[in-house]
Amino acid sequence: MLQVVDLRKGFGSGRNRLEVLKGIDLEMKPGELVALMGPSGCGKSTLLNIIGGLLNADSGSISLESFNYGTKSASRVVDVRRRGVGWIFQDFHLIDRLSALDNVIFSLELAGVPSAEAEEQARDALDKVGLSDRLEFIPDQLSGGQQQRVAIARAIAGSRPLLLADEPTGNLDVKSGQEIIDLFKRLCEQDGMSILMVTHDPTLASMADRMLLLKDGVTAASDIRSAWGVDTEAGE
Ligand SMILES: Nc1ncnc2c1ncn2[C@@H]1O[C@H](COP(=O)(O)OP(=O)(O)OP(=O)(O)O)[C@@H](O)[C@H]1O
Ligand SMILES: [Mg+2]
Repeated sequence: MLQVVDLRKGFGSGRNRLEVLKGIDLEMKPGELVALMGPSGCGKSTLLNIIGGLLNADSGSISLESFNYGTKSASRVVDVRRRGVGWIFQDFHLIDRLSALDNVIFSLELAGVPSAEAEEQARDALDKVGLSDRLEFIPDQLSGGQQQRVAIARAIAGSRPLLLADEPTGNLDVKSGQEIIDLFKRLCEQDGMSILMVTHDPTLASMADRMLLLKDGVTAASDIRSAWGVDTEAGE
């Protein structure tokens, strides 16, 4: 469902030039949960931003279902952002004054879904993340884990095939973090969603179907030992 081929990205020019991604190849199947790990500053968020259509690469290509992009400027991949990917961030990015239900409805409406349909899809998504009894709560009235589940409902509403999660458990305690990963696994298994998740937590990463280590600008299959830095031999 997702294929990334020889993706390259650098920032700056001349002596200030920094090559961040130096030929990323990555494939994901429908229903797969993949954990992306790697040292701070190695380019994990940059890679997610390019896959999510927020930033263009210098070269290489991405195909996500029927979308083909990679080097196209962000203004030419509106459809990817509206229908291709859903985002989940470390700090939830919910709108403080809107209820859980309205947070999800609002983002669907921004994506062009008519109001009545948006409400139905929002209720459906909040049901999937187990928040049917919290629809009218605003973020302040929800725990961190519940707020992240609202954000997940927002990301999956409208049946986007790929979720991009940048350190989704970074602000959560251990138990809530585990619950988020359990939810991810359920969404992958039951709904066939694919999820690419950045995490610094090897325990959570080991719960994914697969781990990738991004280092020195390229990705390699990883196991728990290399992710910890115990064993530098990455690969299957
Ligand atoms: N817009 C930009 N302009 C210049 N340099 C950038 C820009 N965006 C990212 N970088 C640089 O690219 C490198 C990769 O950044 P990125 O945010 O992708 O790292 P990361 O792996 O997500 O790190 P972390 O684990 O700390 O979140 C960093 O050195 C960063 O300074
Ligand atoms: Mg990052």
